[in-house]
Amino acid sequence: MSLLDIRNLSIDIATAQGKVRVIDKVSLTIVDGSIHGLVGESGSGKSLIAKAILGLHNASWTVTADRMFLGTTDLTKLSSKNRRRIMRKEIAMIFQHPRSYLDPSKKILPQIREVLPTISIKRRLLNIIKRSPEPSPRLRIKELLHKVGIQNDRIVLASYPYELSEGICQKVMIAMAIANNPSLIIADEPTTAMEPVTQEQIFRLLYKLNQLNNTTILLLSNNFGSIRDLSDYITLIYCGQTVESGSYKQIINSPMHPYTEAMIKTILDFDENISHKSQLYTLPGNIPSANQLPIGCRLGPRCPRAQRTCVINPEPLNLKGHMISCHFPSTDKN
Ligand SMILES: Nc1ncnc2c1ncn2[C@@H]1O[C@H](COP(=O)(O)OP(=O)(O)OP(=O)(O)O)[C@@H](O)[C@H]1O
Ligand code: SF4
Ligand SMILES: [Mg+2]
Repeated sequence: MSLLDIRNLSIDIATAQGKVRVIDKVSLTIVDGSIHGLVGESGSGKSLIAKAILGLHNASWTVTADRMFLGTTDLTKLSSKNRRRIMRKEIAMIFQHPRSYLDPSKKILPQIREVLPTISIKRRLLNIIKRSPEPSPRLRIKELLHKVGIQNDRIVLASYPYELSEGICQKVMIAMAIANNPSLIIADEPTTAMEPVTQEQIFRLLYKLNQLNNTTILLLSNNFGSIRDLSDYITLIYCGQTVESGSYKQIINSPMHPYTEAMIKTILDFDENISHKSQLYTLPGNIPSANQLPIGCRLGPRCPRAQRTCVINPEPLNLKGHMISCHFPSTDKN
């Protein structure tokens, strides 16, 4: 069953050069209880999609979608107040550079206390009747920190964000994110600029949350290699267009889009003998800026298989849930 189902999401942003279609008919189906990797180079539109899901856009954006359901709730039909209420309850976001999202003037304890869900009077009364008092906020915070692998909770809670490492701050952010038991966590590049050991710890923690609590995770990254093996499903986007989407097996074993094939080739395989100073694979060229987008398939100028037809946007092809947007997909692997 899908927890989040988005069809043909488009975002037009008004700029000094006129309206720019930064997200062009992106579709995303996130299966309940899964980890879904959303991968694309820097500037491909991952954060814009996350903001559109959360309704965090300003007046210069025009957001349209044929369908945007969270469970059985149609998000396009909600007033912004109701939508914010549902988002606060159901979806939590973890950002890159966690320290900049924590309040530098407050210690960690009051910051976590602020996000703790309030316990209703009805539940308090029920607990009194059942003679099982609710744990104190301090105990609930301690439990949250232990869940994210912070053992020295007293020191962390008494610290300001600047006194803690980036890795600990990210764990605190994750603890705050899970305080409300959200059904979906959107993790936007949660390990950027962290050292490999800390990256590994954060990914392991997200995986544990998914496995133990069945929390669905949408993991945004421009590093295919780092999130590949964590993901049950993978969607690749390029320049605001979905290029390929499917299960881990479909994408890794049978990639059909030239962009996916290129992304897979860029992952270093340490089992293979890489000779000293050998050239590593990269797709030629750079991602174009938002106001210089090619017409039709936006990968065209960089695509090794591009032909004249590619100036027309390819219609998505759906092969048993494996979705490809390309006029000339590889066909020899499926
Ligand atoms: N407020 C805005 N106004 C105009 N253009 C924007 C705005 N926000 C983002 N863009 C453009 O939209 C494109 C996608 O940006 P976005 O930040 O979503 O990329 P991203 O995939 O998250 O990249 P990164 O991996 O670097 O975080 C970029 O070309 C960016 O310049
Ligand atoms: S549609 Fe054309 S340009 Fe786009 S990925 Fe396919 S072959 Fe390349
Ligand atoms: Mg981003």
